[in-house]
Amino acid sequence: MRTLQLAPSILTADFGRLADEVRAAEAGGADLLHLDVMDGRFVPNITFGPGLVDALRRVTNLPFDIHLMVMEPERQVEAFLEAATTVNVHVEATNHVNRTLDQIRRAGAEAGICLNPGTPLAAIEESLPEVDQVMVMTINPGWGGQQMLPAQLEKVARLRQLIDTQGHRARIEIDGGVKVENVGHCAVAGADVLVCGSSVYNTVASVAENLAALRQAAEVGR
Ligand code: DX5
Ligand code: ZN
Repeated sequence: MRTLQLAPSILTADFGRLADEVRAAEAGGADLLHLDVMDGRFVPNITFGPGLVDALRRVTNLPFDIHLMVMEPERQVEAFLEAATTVNVHVEATNHVNRTLDQIRRAGAEAGICLNPGTPLAAIEESLPEVDQVMVMTINPGWGGQQMLPAQLEKVARLRQLIDTQGHRARIEIDGGVKVENVGHCAVAGADVLVCGSSVYNTVASVAENLAALRQAAEVGR
């Protein structure tokens, strides 16, 4: 049985108290910290860049799972490599995805490839042997707090089968709309890592309470 990892995304955290919000995730038992970098071109929204990532590197020991939602990520990856454990790039954002994955791995980081909901699995098949992680977007990227698109879990299940039958090492990460109610479905579909944004950082409960509820759902769902 695989153990699901929880990767809180700070997108809906209080940016005025970001260091505390990140420490709360670490204290609450997060496995990774998911950092959403948006450039206003690949997605309409703009978030933050390497300066903030480096600043957060100094306040937590959590591994950083960096999600680059930027055009031509090959021009940007360098600036994130030192702080990152994993750098994830979108297949839709570059004409040179395998070269970019290689650039990340040669620098000693793990390389992840991401697919938007409208992108077929076939788009990443040739990259599968090169990656440590595949991120399946279960929302159209740009904002936190959206509803999961359930059809994307079928894509996750097909990807699970592809990875297992071909014997690749890649983990599967699900990003978008993960909450207590669907954690079990994510587990059944074959996920290894769950990004949790608004299900961790919200006004309903504390970061620790939310993480504990997600963890419990992940245990039950296995
Ligand atoms: C959106 C980001 C997500 C976002 C998820 O484009 O990639 O990581 O933070 O937020 P929730 O979990 O609220 O859908
Ligand atoms: Zn993300």
